[in-house]
Amino acid sequence: MFKLTAKAVACALSLSVAGLVHAADPITIKFSHVVAENTPKGQGALMFKRLAEERLPGKVKVEVYPNSSLYGDGKEMEALLLGDVHIIAPSLAKFEHYSKAIQIFDLPFLFDDIEAVDRFQKSEGGQKLLASMQDKGITGLGYWHNGLKQLSANKKLVEPKDARGLKFRVQASAVLDEQFKALKANPRKMSFAEVYQGLQTGVVNGAENPYSNIYSQKMHEVQKYITESNHGLLDYMVITNTKFWEGLPADVRTELRSIMDEVSVEVNRLAYELNEGDKQRILAAGTTEIITLTPEQRAKWREAMQPVWKKFEGEIGADLIKAAQASNQK
Ligand code: LMR
Repeated sequence: MFKLTAKAVACALSLSVAGLVHAADPITIKFSHVVAENTPKGQGALMFKRLAEERLPGKVKVEVYPNSSLYGDGKEMEALLLGDVHIIAPSLAKFEHYSKAIQIFDLPFLFDDIEAVDRFQKSEGGQKLLASMQDKGITGLGYWHNGLKQLSANKKLVEPKDARGLKFRVQASAVLDEQFKALKANPRKMSFAEVYQGLQTGVVNGAENPYSNIYSQKMHEVQKYITESNHGLLDYMVITNTKFWEGLPADVRTELRSIMDEVSVEVNRLAYELNEGDKQRILAAGTTEIITLTPEQRAKWREAMQPVWKKFEGEIGADLIKAAQASNQK
């Protein structure tokens, strides 16, 4: 009898010690992304880590893996769904297998400027998209800007006909694929980590990126021309694994949510400046001519690319497209 009780006590003790150790263990949150640290997303991830560890000391540890060092963009979504990584922020071009409506952000010449993008993301339609993958186990936590994309190539691109026959790297997006086909160019899907080498070796002749991605990946060193086309958007949705997120202790989840909101405001405030700074750094490097389009030239690019909208209207929804267009009005 005594023996049994002692055993029970020992067992209870060891359980409670294990419990204590467990309670003292911080929750590890892995945040993986594919860009450099000196970019809007890179800075956002570091800001999230700093604030989370400051405000939830001992409760949360955030590990940030930049530059595709943990998962490249072919694998990060799968890793999130498996719970191997907890937060990622893919560009909005990379969601087509999970939500057709999110393809809206890839439509060329949809938004006049980043303020319009901001208004749409904050609108009812934009907010609904954050929840549109809930049934797939993905929760959207917010939008982060990078910025508008510029075309780059080793050939001067002034009018759409200049792009004919060239090979362009595209993200894994049917809309972007069609956008280059509309120019009679050859799109080639390639993961972000491969772009620099693809451009360097001539596997592709050009690409489309915001200045921050061009500069931080040194793409300007292998591209003689950048056309400031501002023809499309490269923004992110910060997402988490729904099961993981809902399994967090309520106080931790609430704090992380408010940190994420704060970080999103900050990233979105910084992104434009960062891109402008990188444009200046590219100019200073002297490797690349930046071509400014006249309104007439830019109108030709719009005319050449915009027919793509019709092809995706069915999948995206005409009403959502109208709502996004309306966000161009202040
Ligand atoms: C790209 O593949 O070009 C971008 O999505 C990379 C990024 O995350 O900014």
